[in-house]
Amino acid sequence: PVPTRTLIDGLELPVLGLGTYGLRGPDGVDAVRHAIDAGYRLVDSAYSYENEGAVGRAVRRSGVPRDELVLTSKLPGRYHRRDDAVRAVHESLWRAGLDHWDLYLVHWPNPRQGYFVEAFATLLELRDAGLIRSVGVSNFLPEHLTAVLDATGHVPSVNQVELHPRFPQREQRAADEVLGVVTQSWSPLGHGGDLLDDPTVAQVARAHGVGPAEVILRWHTQLGAVPLPKSATPARQRANLGVLAFTLDDDEVAAITALGRPDGRMSDQDPGVYEEL
Ligand code: A2P
Repeated sequence: PVPTRTLIDGLELPVLGLGTYGLRGPDGVDAVRHAIDAGYRLVDSAYSYENEGAVGRAVRRSGVPRDELVLTSKLPGRYHRRDDAVRAVHESLWRAGLDHWDLYLVHWPNPRQGYFVEAFATLLELRDAGLIRSVGVSNFLPEHLTAVLDATGHVPSVNQVELHPRFPQREQRAADEVLGVVTQSWSPLGHGGDLLDDPTVAQVARAHGVGPAEVILRWHTQLGAVPLPKSATPARQRANLGVLAFTLDDDEVAAITALGRPDGRMSDQDPGVYEEL
């Protein structure tokens, strides 16, 4: 089984999970089902991925007891007002056929719209009502974390951000850590692009007898982040779980962090200005 770590609110979070962006429909059900069969216990979904139903179906077909799984979804930016957020969470649960989400995140801060504190506070309310076990955020900059803490007295359990060796997010990780917020990595492999062909990564991979993706995912876990690699391919899903079986030394971790570039963010969605609708 994938080991877990304890979040600030007590939720036991597996140290690696399955990303599901783009996995939809019957193929999506199969992909998530394969991952659960392979041993994944954390599945990351979102209202806007239009695959909550596929995740729910895969969970039911897997036969794995519900309380052994950590199922995540996220609140879209257009539903930050209280009534909208309540309706969206209910709809999210209905689509998935679930009676609770283990983790529910404010997907984007939408700072210019200005209602992310209301969204976060509403999710805390739904947690108290039993619909959600743990409330987190995604794409929050340090100033957004401070704003929710000041307004509600609570910090999010996780902050899921774009994080990979081209965009190592030193300041953001430090800001999360100081507050006790666990950083989750979206696109941990940099979308499977040129990073997987990088010579430094290849050299470290050879030294450990593993593939480049495993080296990168292991780098995440050793930084203290929880990677959510997306793969529809059972063999890759299994390989990505293999990161729990070897350890990088400090020099190797540093060499991979040094692959960061000033323009390394893949997404053009700057959380400081971007408004997800
Ligand atoms: P596939 O779904 O065909 O297996 P990210 O999570 O950073 O967005 O990257 C996802 C991409 O990386 C997907 O296209 C996925 O392809 C690919 N990928 C996932 N795991 C591996 C792996 N172990 N080796 C190579 N490519 C991988």
